[in-house]
Amino acid sequence: MFHQVNPLELQCNPFEMIGKEWALVTAGDETGCNTMTISWGNMGIMWNKNIVTIFIRPQRYTKDFLDRFENFTVSFYEESCRPALQLCGSKSGRNLDKIKAAGLTPVYENGMTYFAEAKLVLECKKIYLDKIRPEGFLDPLIAKNYPDNDYHIIYMGEITRVLQK
Ligand SMILES: Cc1cc2nc3c(=O)[nH]c(=O)nc-3n(C[C@H](O)[C@H](O)[C@H](O)COP(=O)(O)O)c2cc1C
Repeated sequence: MFHQVNPLELQCNPFEMIGKEWALVTAGDETGCNTMTISWGNMGIMWNKNIVTIFIRPQRYTKDFLDRFENFTVSFYEESCRPALQLCGSKSGRNLDKIKAAGLTPVYENGMTYFAEAKLVLECKKIYLDKIRPEGFLDPLIAKNYPDNDYHIIYMGEITRVLQK
């Protein structure tokens, strides 16, 4: 049902896909994994590589898995899956088997996890890690996003495989 595609063949609008449709970031494998919803992120080119950048607040349980595993996936869904993404973006995997609760079907491959319900999956290898620093805020309004000083951790992933339905 999924087939591998060349990233250059993708017909998609990242502003719509990430910002409006949202996505799931998933890290871990069959020994343990966690997933969470994101609506902030970047897709583009850096160091001549195809890159996805995600921004994860330190308190997310998914961060434990992002740090432990070398790879992660970013997956995209049809509108019918919105309730699943809402659940994965409002409950923590610390307290709940939210993959089961969301009705998602894990697929374990290449030391990563994605879900059979996805329409598009980006498999990514972590290649750069950093943290948002308030010293870098040239627009002071950005600080409003951080009343608790929980600055995002930046994970840049090189896209190693794209799967599409
Ligand atoms: C639409 C939407 C977008 C979100 N985007 C992000 C994001 O980009 N980064 C982040 O750290 N949290 C984001 N969140 C919050 C996490 O998805 C949420 O805190 C989740 O419950 C964390 O789960 P976990 O503790 O199992 O990792 C978003 C939530 C929603 C509903």
